[in-house]
Amino acid sequence: MRDKQPYIIAIDGPSGSGKGSLAVQLAGKLNFHLLDSGAIYRLAALKALQDGIDLEQESEVVTSLADLNIRFEIGDELSIPYLNDTDVSEQIRLESSGEAASVIARYPGVRKQLLAWQREFFRPPGLVADGRDMGTVVFPDARFKFFLCASVEIRALRRYNQLISMELSANIDQLRADISERDERDKNRAESPLIPASEAIIVDSSLLDLEQVVDLVMSHIVEVNENRSL
Ligand code: C5P
Repeated sequence: MRDKQPYIIAIDGPSGSGKGSLAVQLAGKLNFHLLDSGAIYRLAALKALQDGIDLEQESEVVTSLADLNIRFEIGDELSIPYLNDTDVSEQIRLESSGEAASVIARYPGVRKQLLAWQREFFRPPGLVADGRDMGTVVFPDARFKFFLCASVEIRALRRYNQLISMELSANIDQLRADISERDERDKNRAESPLIPASEAIIVDSSLLDLEQVVDLVMSHIVEVNENRSL
C-alpha cells in the first residue's frame, strides 16, 4: 500500500553548508513546498531596522514585529520575499541582513513570534524546511531530519563564489570571520541553538558537490519511504 501522508523534511545546518540549495532541489524533485526559514528571520530583521529599532533592544524588536507584513510569491525560479508589499529579494541576501537576522534570532520573543509563520508552510503534499531549528523546535515530528555541515574554509569559499557570480564585492578573509562569528552566535544562544536533532542524519558536504549531496539524501528518503509502504 502506498503511503500518501504529507510529511516534512527538515534540513538544518550553519550558513554555507549547502542546505539552502539542497532544500530547493529536494522540493523540486518531490514537488513539495519550501520553507527558507532564514529568509523569515532576515525579513523580520529588515522590518526592525526600517522601524529604526536598535537591534540590541529585545523588547523593542519584539514590539516592532507585532505588525510584521511579509509574504512570498512564486517567481521564475525562486520565491520572491515581500516586506510591506515591497520586493526585498536583493536586500535580504546582503551579508548585513544575515548578520542582523542572527542578532535578533537570539531573542525568545522573536522566535516565538516567527514560529506560526513557519509552521503555516506545511501543506500537502509536504514540506522541505531549511534552517537552524527545523528538526529540533519548529517541526520536531518531521519524518526526515538532516544536518548539513562543512568546514568554515569551504563555506567561506562558496559564499565568495556566490557573491562574485552575483557581481557583488567580496573579501574571503572577511567572509571567513563573519561566518565564524555567526556560527558562534547561532550555536551558543540559549534559545533554539544550532544543534543537530538527536535523530538527525549528519551530512558533511565539505568534499561533495550539490549533486552528490542531493543523491545521498534522496536515496535515503526513497529507501525509508519504500519500507514504510511495504
Ligand atoms: O539561513 P540564513 O543565513 O538565511 O539565516 C540568517 C540567520 O537567521 C542565521 O544566522 C540565524 O541566526 C537565523 N536563523 C535562525 N533560525 C532559523 C533560520 C535562521 O536562528 N531557523
